[in-house]
Amino acid sequence: MNAVIRGTGTYIPDRRVSNHELEEYLDTSDEWIVSHTGIHYRHIAAEDQAASDLATEAARKALHRAEIEPEELDMILLATATPDFSGFPATACIVQDNLKAENAAAMDLVAGCTGFIYGLETAKGFISSGFSKKVLLMGAEVLSRCVNWQDRNTCVLFGDGAGAAVICAEEGPEERGVLYTYIRSRGWGARLLERTAGGSRFPYKHGETDPNDFYLKMDGRKVYGFAVASLVETIEHLLEYHDLSIDQIKYIIPHQANLRIIEAAAKRKKIPLDKFYINIQEFANTSAATIPIALAELQGKHMLQEGDMLLVIGFGAGLTYGGNLIRW
Ligand code: ACO
Repeated sequence: MNAVIRGTGTYIPDRRVSNHELEEYLDTSDEWIVSHTGIHYRHIAAEDQAASDLATEAARKALHRAEIEPEELDMILLATATPDFSGFPATACIVQDNLKAENAAAMDLVAGCTGFIYGLETAKGFISSGFSKKVLLMGAEVLSRCVNWQDRNTCVLFGDGAGAAVICAEEGPEERGVLYTYIRSRGWGARLLERTAGGSRFPYKHGETDPNDFYLKMDGRKVYGFAVASLVETIEHLLEYHDLSIDQIKYIIPHQANLRIIEAAAKRKKIPLDKFYINIQEFANTSAATIPIALAELQGKHMLQEGDMLLVIGFGAGLTYGGNLIRW
């Protein structure tokens, strides 16, 4: 049984924050941010918007494009590092209620910026087992709530947004949809990217917890090295599996964390940069949402034809990484 992406959608918050706006209060510059990351803008959610609100809007668009009603869904998966509530309830359950998708099970998936990649294989697994016929998979993040806006090392890198895809069980003469997945975890690096407080390791203690421990912390240099290596490794594995050459791939859609990571991997593999779909300049790093946002943009701009081969690749907190080979 094939697991085919039928419709995609995005929700991007209206508020668009330029590097110049950050310059006004932070010791940074447009020149530094662009030259070190490729980022020009990021979009920031309104005060009253949480991850489920962004995800619900993206999901409505994906369902509309796929011509599927919410009650036809049997599984709802939401990849996020910034859920509405810490631990429980799952944000996917809130989206399920918003959509009135009454026949669906719902759960969150926590795999950092690789969440959507893990989610595609999870959706395929539910379809292959016969449990699911129509799966809604979303990546949604409100990272602006957990970055320290006084810390120039991290706050300039992230943005808010959501992307969604409807994945359907389809039979057909040729293999289509998610063909192959390569995913890995390197837990030795778990603490290179973390939000220290609020979990069972360091629960909130009145008068003792440092408020800074609720902010995202990252060892940027170590994560950078891991990111380039994992992008290269994943491209190699995905191509090898079907004995493909890079010329047979229409686009590589990498996680958008830093343009320099993509450039370094492209150089190492001698792949032209225009093979990579890049939109980091507009949205910055929206973690689990970058890949579904990029897929929805490509579909919205009619840049994908049936049969196109795609590599979608993620890397991030965990440390997790990996990718999917997709025949559109
Ligand atoms: N503006 C101006 N200067 C800055 C800024 C800024 N916004 N940020 C850092 N600097 C300074 C630093 O303070 C440092 O100054 P110093 O030398 O006086 O100490 C200098 O710039 C260089 O700092 P580096 O950390 O060496 O900068 P680098 O070139 O490595 O870029 C960056 C930093 C962009 C964070 C890079 O390391 C990176 O992209 N890392 C990977 C991030 C990533 O991929 N995350 C993925 C997953 S995210 C997730 O899963 C949620």
